[in-house]
Amino acid sequence: MNLTNKRILIVGGTSGFGREVALKSQQQGATVEVIGHDENRTKKFQQDHNGIKATALNTQDSTDLKNYFSSTKTFDHIISTLGGAMGGGFLDSTIEKIRQTVEDKFFANLQLAQIAHHFLNKNGSMIFTSGSGGHPYDASGAIVGNSAINTMVAGMAVELAPNYRINAVSPTWTPTGLWRDMSETDVMQQVKDFSQGVPLKRVASIEEVASGYLYLMKNDFVTGQILNIDGGIDLN
Ligand SMILES: NC(=O)c1ccc[n+]([C@@H]2O[C@H](COP(=O)([O-])OP(=O)(O)OC[C@H]3O[C@@H](n4cnc5c(N)ncnc54)[C@H](OP(=O)(O)O)[C@@H]3O)[C@@H](O)[C@H]2O)c1
Repeated sequence: MNLTNKRILIVGGTSGFGREVALKSQQQGATVEVIGHDENRTKKFQQDHNGIKATALNTQDSTDLKNYFSSTKTFDHIISTLGGAMGGGFLDSTIEKIRQTVEDKFFANLQLAQIAHHFLNKNGSMIFTSGSGGHPYDASGAIVGNSAINTMVAGMAVELAPNYRINAVSPTWTPTGLWRDMSETDVMQQVKDFSQGVPLKRVASIEEVASGYLYLMKNDFVTGQILNIDGGIDLN
């Protein structure tokens, strides 16, 4: 139930939620490896965080991903924050845009799960990242991707049992590296505007979302669950 001496891999661990999970896990005694995409950001992470092995890799390339797992020891927990965001409905978005969003969110994680579960230690777990809020009419591909993650988690929980667990954390809009192309002023405005639609009238901190992954690693009797850390956004 604790993370001491556990081996944890965070795919998408150089920024945002994944980075916070990496740091908290290390503080709690785990050996942590992270994968990022951008070489410079990954190098910077490695310089800033001694003791965490950081590798830049495009995890959508199955050969590179298999090579990574073959070159390291097995893990107790494998976490993924792979995926993005998309605005636009089903009629005003191109098929290419919707398909790419589902590819980045669902198929990238499905491929990861299919490869990664062979490298889990007994009683280990995988945790994926879904998403809350948004509507089919204005976030079409993103909603399809999130629904597909939730369905994958439900299916694989039974397929992986009894030796392994699988769950997902479902955040809603949170200021992370995902929005690094927005100006600081626009991010602040989005925080203000978005908070109005959340029952708790604010956005999450990265630490609040990260704590969900830590909980799901530690509780050995939770599988097949989607843990919404979203201030109740879908209840309005
Ligand atoms: N933040 C939100 O508002 C929000 C809301 C709902 C759901 N989500 C979900 O949360 C996840 C994003 O997490 P975040 O908000 O913490 O974003 P983030 O700060 O951008 O972190 C994403 C991480 O994934 C890595 N990554 C992306 N593509 C990769 C690839 N092909 N191969 C290897 N690494 C890759 C990034 O590396 P680089 O930085 O090197 O590219 C980074 O470390 C997504 O699944 C998203 O759908 C986020």
